[in-house]
Amino acid sequence: MTSKTVAELLSQDVTLQDVSIKGWVRTFRAKRFIALNDGSTINNIQCVVDFENFDEAILKRITTGAAIHVKGELVESQGKGQSVEIVVKTLDILGDSDPETYPIQPKKHSFEFLRENAHLRTRTNTFSAVMRLRSSLSFAIHKYFNENGFNYMHTPIVTGSDAEGAGEMFKVTTLEAKNPPLNEDGTVNYKEDFFGKETNLTVSGQLEAETYAMSLGKVYTFGPTFRAENSNTTRHLAEFWMIEPEVAFMDLAGNMDLAEDFMKSVLSYILENNKEDLEFLDNRLQKEEEKLPQAQRSDMSLIEKIKFVVDNNFKRVSYTEAIDILRNCKPNKKKKFNYLINEWGADLQSEHERFLVEKHFKCPVILFDYPANIKAFYMRLNEPDAEGRETVRAMDILFPGIGEMVGGSQREERLEVLKEKMKALNIDEEELWWYLDLRKYGTAVHSGFGLGFERLVMFATGMSNIRDVIPYPRTPQNAEF
Ligand code: 4AD
Ligand code: MG
Repeated sequence: MTSKTVAELLSQDVTLQDVSIKGWVRTFRAKRFIALNDGSTINNIQCVVDFENFDEAILKRITTGAAIHVKGELVESQGKGQSVEIVVKTLDILGDSDPETYPIQPKKHSFEFLRENAHLRTRTNTFSAVMRLRSSLSFAIHKYFNENGFNYMHTPIVTGSDAEGAGEMFKVTTLEAKNPPLNEDGTVNYKEDFFGKETNLTVSGQLEAETYAMSLGKVYTFGPTFRAENSNTTRHLAEFWMIEPEVAFMDLAGNMDLAEDFMKSVLSYILENNKEDLEFLDNRLQKEEEKLPQAQRSDMSLIEKIKFVVDNNFKRVSYTEAIDILRNCKPNKKKKFNYLINEWGADLQSEHERFLVEKHFKCPVILFDYPANIKAFYMRLNEPDAEGRETVRAMDILFPGIGEMVGGSQREERLEVLKEKMKALNIDEEELWWYLDLRKYGTAVHSGFGLGFERLVMFATGMSNIRDVIPYPRTPQNAEF
């Protein structure tokens, strides 16, 4: 007799004399029907106990959350809702679960409550489905890049540079906070720190990925990144996972093509391979929406939204066009935006991004050619436009319900232009000497982007809070588990 998973047993179309299965009890009904789940699928397998001939002491220990080992016969089910079930011959309790204290009872729990019990929340249908999808998407991402000739690169987690130049970094130090060694002028002497210099957790692997793109051609990273920004929103984490492809000899148009093809490919993968989990989450959302007034319900279900992205072209719109749309739109004219758009050069807030994707275009939008002074130092400068305005070859991909999903650009490959930009922004050339070297030796056009993995998981699962798509979220004032 071999042990099988619930997923394997449920996909079985034959009956089996002897099966053995281990899992956690979801419910035990009428002293007879155990709904058993082992995490391999959203579905439970029903195990039927002949309670009249069963040890009463054991029956009492079949409680929600208990781990059990069942041996029995797999038969066609008599009841509704499942094709097969197990007639239990023997049942061992592997681990008890006290019903008085076990937090995950068979009833609806709020996501807030489940966040506080994040170590147990994957024992619910919603979170097990979300985390299986997260795993599946990770695999699809590696598969896509592997099949398209990319090398997977591991960029350092501890770095001395600030890739985004935004200063939102977590320091890494072994110096004592209370009593650090000081220089003569009273500043901290980092020469005595572990690495002999100031270091921090990476905010992006991009700069190092560029070095490998300029030798291996096509590379990507997929790793944790850290931002010490004090944004307590449903879309920001202090620790999140980012996918960053970087490609030599590719310009901004190629970058957009790559990003679009990549996202469509990984979303197709889950449509194909995670049907049951997606259907479960789709139903869950529809039930949630039924509680809302008609006007607030979305026109498409979760699966329809994913299919829509896979089947339709992303809309490509320049920043300048977007500003024209925003300047003349109703919420701007009626002063409904918190930040009114008056002139070219304004940075876009999430209210503007949402208006563009959700109200105006109603599809994913790639915004490109942003004003130079609201974007990072490494982006390729365009020729000034007819009105003398300076833009860079940046692109952001905005998604309905999510906002910014991707940020990327063609990189500045010209040494002198890059140096001037760094000077203007007070970025130390000595710190990025190796980055500048790329422009000295065999420089070439190259581009890449970063996709926030959790935002992709949010879109794919319909979850509305980013804290619910990563196992253990790190946010301001919170690093439990
Ligand atoms: O736009 P960002 O800051 O771009 C970069 O870091 C570039 N170096 C990427 C590149 O060109 N290789 O971040 C990229 C994406 C965002 O579009 C967003 O999806 C996600 O990372 N992101 C976050 N996700 C969760 N929590 C946060 N605090 C995030 N900050 C950015
Ligand atoms: Mg960005």
